[in-house]
Amino acid sequence: MITATGLELRAGSRILLADTALRIQSGDRIGLVGRNGAGKTTTLKVLAGEGEPYAGEVRHGGELGYLPQDPREGDLSVTAKDRVLSARGLDTLLRDMEKAQSAMSELVDDTERDRAVRRYGRLEERFAALGGYAAESEAARICSNLGLPDRVLAQTLGTLSGGQRRRVELARILFAASEAGAGGKSDTILLLDEPTNHLDADSITWLRGFLKAHEGGLVVISHDVELLAEVVNKVWFLDATRGELDHYNMTWKRYQEARATDEKRRRRERANAEKKAAALQQQAAKLGAKATKAVAAKNMARRAEQMLANLDETRQADKVAHIKFPAPAPCGRTPLTAEGLSKSYGSLEIFTGVDLAIDRGSKVVVLGLNGAGKTTLLRLLGGMETADTGAVEAGHGLRLGYYAQEHETLDHDATVWENIRHLAPDTGAQELRNLLGSFLFSGEQLDQTAGTLSGGEKTRLALAGLVSSAANVLLLDEPTNNLDPASREQVLSALRSYTGAVVLVTHDPGAVEALEPERVILLPDGTEDHWSADYLDLVQLA
Ligand SMILES: Nc1ncnc2c1ncn2[C@@H]1O[C@H](COP(=O)(O)OP(=O)(O)OP(=O)(O)O)[C@@H](O)[C@H]1O
Ligand SMILES: [Mg+2]
Repeated sequence: MITATGLELRAGSRILLADTALRIQSGDRIGLVGRNGAGKTTTLKVLAGEGEPYAGEVRHGGELGYLPQDPREGDLSVTAKDRVLSARGLDTLLRDMEKAQSAMSELVDDTERDRAVRRYGRLEERFAALGGYAAESEAARICSNLGLPDRVLAQTLGTLSGGQRRRVELARILFAASEAGAGGKSDTILLLDEPTNHLDADSITWLRGFLKAHEGGLVVISHDVELLAEVVNKVWFLDATRGELDHYNMTWKRYQEARATDEKRRRRERANAEKKAAALQQQAAKLGAKATKAVAAKNMARRAEQMLANLDETRQADKVAHIKFPAPAPCGRTPLTAEGLSKSYGSLEIFTGVDLAIDRGSKVVVLGLNGAGKTTLLRLLGGMETADTGAVEAGHGLRLGYYAQEHETLDHDATVWENIRHLAPDTGAQELRNLLGSFLFSGEQLDQTAGTLSGGEKTRLALAGLVSSAANVLLLDEPTNNLDPASREQVLSALRSYTGAVVLVTHDPGAVEALEPERVILLPDGTEDHWSADYLDLVQLA
């Protein structure tokens, strides 16, 4: 169980959550929702005991498993497999067994070998007693369901992509929570921040099933509506403008209806308040004409002002970023071509002999399963990485804009303002300020370091950087990840109206529909085909 009392959370001087009490216990499956930057990640981190609240207290009883939104740093020299097994302390035991085993086969001295045999026997006994064999196969099952094949499990964490590392963390947490080897029920509380972000459709389906069957508590932050609909039995809505957490003890579907009703009521209240304020202002104006009533008039005017100020604050909550893409600079007929691209990491061949030509204004979708090399292809095209063979060639007037899935284009130690200056060195300060404003960055937040931005805010900042670039070929790697529904809609409409060329990698069928692609490139073969609606199923699978 996790309980919190008098909880107050802040971001800089802004209050995200004030004087809040909450409790999570076995059987609770809670969906934590709210706009980008509302404070969901901050809340979960504090509940996990990895962040300090501004005020209040959090108490833990029992085990918990926390998946942060960003990949953890930690020791990157351990293998993925050891990382997963370490959740139940089996990694060192297994490694010692392997050592003893090789000693047994290598040692020539009889007494020494006997000692190794005995040592192996002891270790093996302990391993078996801990349910090691069942646990090992349980771990393997979880990993394979999360799209982590054996060859990836053998790699060290440092060599994995951010997405793969998050999957390893998720596997580790679910492995710890499942305890199938011990045969007991799990009362672990799972705290998962956007667990589906780097998963393919099969893995997501499996995860939904796993979470639905989980008997301990669960708090999940997710923009995956289907996951929420299938898994959660309670919804917490975080509204940072009010500093409140609204509890809805109901399923996602019922919550949606309840929220719609609440919204209607709030809008009505807002309209009423506006009417009252207007009436007060009128009265004040009338009274103000009489010298004897000047004080009363002033008070009235002040009250009206206050009412309207409160309203502004609630309106702020509904504010939506106006996300747009750049006006493309003129260029030749085929601004980007690539020929015979191959890439391997060590002995692992990602793809070979990929050819492509991106014509001015053309729209292309790249499809392929997890690990097929979609991000790698974009990185090659964007010049972030060089190919083993083949070449990328810039056509006349090419201006590239690259949106990276893991926000590598942002300098995490620099402020929002420094980042945008760097991304758009030729744009005037006032224009940049306006641009940032339309992407919902203003005031104090301009001085915030990019590394401390929320997931959705990082996405917004990186996209803002593209706008001032006059790019005529956009390379977009999962541009709708992390965005709340309103901001995602904005990206989709920006995609619809952009007149330059786009090469898009996405798991989001809505993004593909918005793009209306003409062509599709299938990885790892690099086969090209005309787009047809049949491919839409593949988008989610990919
Ligand atoms: N050190 C800091 N200084 C100022 N503001 C901060 C700092 N760290 C975080 N914030 C702000 O706190 C707010 C809450 O962030 P948080 O990551 O909890 O949001 P979130 O609800 O998880 O958003 P998302 O849906 O985008 O992931 C954000 O506006 C973020 O910019
Ligand atoms: Mg977050």
